[in-house]
Amino acid sequence: MSRYHVKSFGCQMNVYDSERMGDLLAGEGHVAVDSPDNADIVVLNTCHIRERAAEKLYSDIGRLRKPRADGSRPVIVAAGCVAQAEGAEIGRRAPAVDVIVGPLAYHRLPDLLREAAAIPEDARGARWGRAIDTDMPASPKFDHLPPRRHQGASAFLTVQEGCDKFCTFCVVPYTRGGETSRPQADLVAEAHTLVAAGAVEITLIGQNVNAYDGGSAGTDSLPGLIARLAEIPGLKRIRYTTSHPRDMTQGLIDAHARIPKLMPYLHLPVQSGSSRILKAMNRAHTRESYLATLAQLRAVRPDIALSGDFIVGFPGETEQDFQDTLDIVAEVGYAQAYSFKYSQRPGTPAATMADQVPEPVKEERLARLQAAITAGAYEFNKASVGRITEILLERPGRKPGQLIGKTPWLQSAVVEIPGAKIGDLIAVQITQGQPNSVEASPLQAERAAA
Ligand code: 5AD
Ligand code: SF4
Repeated sequence: MSRYHVKSFGCQMNVYDSERMGDLLAGEGHVAVDSPDNADIVVLNTCHIRERAAEKLYSDIGRLRKPRADGSRPVIVAAGCVAQAEGAEIGRRAPAVDVIVGPLAYHRLPDLLREAAAIPEDARGARWGRAIDTDMPASPKFDHLPPRRHQGASAFLTVQEGCDKFCTFCVVPYTRGGETSRPQADLVAEAHTLVAAGAVEITLIGQNVNAYDGGSAGTDSLPGLIARLAEIPGLKRIRYTTSHPRDMTQGLIDAHARIPKLMPYLHLPVQSGSSRILKAMNRAHTRESYLATLAQLRAVRPDIALSGDFIVGFPGETEQDFQDTLDIVAEVGYAQAYSFKYSQRPGTPAATMADQVPEPVKEERLARLQAAITAGAYEFNKASVGRITEILLERPGRKPGQLIGKTPWLQSAVVEIPGAKIGDLIAVQITQGQPNSVEASPLQAERAAA
């Protein structure tokens, strides 16, 4: 029996995968610990989306390979998208790594640990020999994973993986392979397991979650799945992320009007407000088509909160293109958004395009964009004051007696409710908007006081 720690970098898909690697290790009799410092096995579940994210693997290995006070060092597993993209190269650059496993092969983690343990130690600084699996197997890993052990009010459920879109900046089609969907019946079963263990909210996740097509049958789509899951009595909230503008079908838009459990929130990355740049990014949508999709959504669900991703400094981006991005932020009124400096990723078409934007220009544009996004989020939070709604309590607040929950619009809401506990859904009124959160007061307490 060993103590293990899984460290997750990057996206929510990795959070799900990290949890599942934990399920596999727990199934082998190992025990989870909160810190890598007292673990015998450390899994680094990495992200390759931007250069800085990828570099974190190597700095963590540097720390982990140093012998501890008692002379021991952990078995090091490099998992996730850096493992997939750089494979055996990781072994050359960081010889202390014992296991290298890609995101589509991690169901083999226990086997790989046994394989590595059977290879005699050498002078590399690794504890064992090295086992590698970065295959993209035809048989999906999901068929080989143990039941979920997840406990808690909110859970992720991976419904789809991979990407066929090939945006010219992005590594995902290379690290996660093509789009594949899990069969609807498997997802309904997994959702029942989660709800039985206390989940009241499930977020359906996928690199292109709205390209979900029910797996090999190819007949059912994301709105069909959402409607099935909405029938589970104990499940109160359904979310999904991340969507591609190209796959926002009328059926999915209508689901926001039809299915009350589907939360009024949509993360729909636009990347740029300039149609010229969107074309160079191979995004398959324009500024106008994106705005038209949002108008359709708002027609059926006027209160929907919108979120997005932006890249500044894509090759060839002019000040005018960037102004178009600032304009779209103002026009949409995002509830929140994520923004990044363009990062050249090896093997992607944009990495070798002419007119790479100098770093200081990227930095200056990012600062302006982030100021606009922050101001927009503050406006959104202020505009929600007075709303009567429910929040799902997630964690303790900073001050004693405070709890933090999520509104349907995914705002963090701070409340004080004596007797309430994490996982409760409680009725509140939003009383104040802050830059990154809202304050709320419980409805019953207010009535009692009146
Ligand atoms: N550089 C910067 N940001 C990127 N993203 C994806 N690839 C890159 C890159 N090469 C951003 C996109 C995507 C989010 C997950 O990461 O905005 O939506
Ligand atoms: Fe990357 Fe584009 Fe696919 Fe999103 S849609 S994962 S940005 S290639």
